[in-house]
Amino acid sequence: MSSARDYQTKPRPFELLLAQDEIARRIGELGQQITRDYQGRTPVLIGVLKGCVIFLADLMRAIKIPVEVEFISAESYRVGARQEEEIKLDRRFTNALRGRHVLIVEGVVDSGRTVITINQELAAVEPASVEVVTLIDKPASHRRKLDLKYVCFTLGNEFVIGFGLDNTQRYRNLPFIGRMLED
Ligand code: IMP
Ligand code: MG
Repeated sequence: MSSARDYQTKPRPFELLLAQDEIARRIGELGQQITRDYQGRTPVLIGVLKGCVIFLADLMRAIKIPVEVEFISAESYRVGARQEEEIKLDRRFTNALRGRHVLIVEGVVDSGRTVITINQELAAVEPASVEVVTLIDKPASHRRKLDLKYVCFTLGNEFVIGFGLDNTQRYRNLPFIGRMLED
């Protein structure tokens, strides 16, 4: 186990929010719940890069039934002066997912636009079911009604980093979740 103090940066622009043991305990619980819910099936976990990486690695080992793993890369970017961000997915889903039980594995659901875009793409290949698993949910930021079945932690509007989550591509390697401090 390492502490927030181990991270070698000065100044340290974050504070500890969720410790490693607390995260591990919640992922263990979610793994048990998914194991029960998908008994007798082989779900396909689709990790949404890059924020999913550490969460997915731990979650898949906490699930005690067979699973398959796929990845999709999602990037949001602003187009010109428009307020709305476009979500760009790096590939389209194939017919291999037709009739399968799919779990979308996210690091953080904020506005919900990424998850909604992935869901719309997935619908075209007619999976048997689609549910979302997320490490962090920020319900106050959702722009549309979302049905997230498996949530590790629910937060307010704070910006968090670590355990796969970044701030301008940094801090993904922190083994805990920290809250960015105002500068
Ligand atoms: P969405 O708004 O639900 O589509 O999420 C868009 C993306 O915003 C996420 O995939 C993250 O990359 C990023 N994001 C939102 N909130 C946070 C946060 O607290 N920490 C790190 N990334 C975040
Ligand atoms: Mg990001």
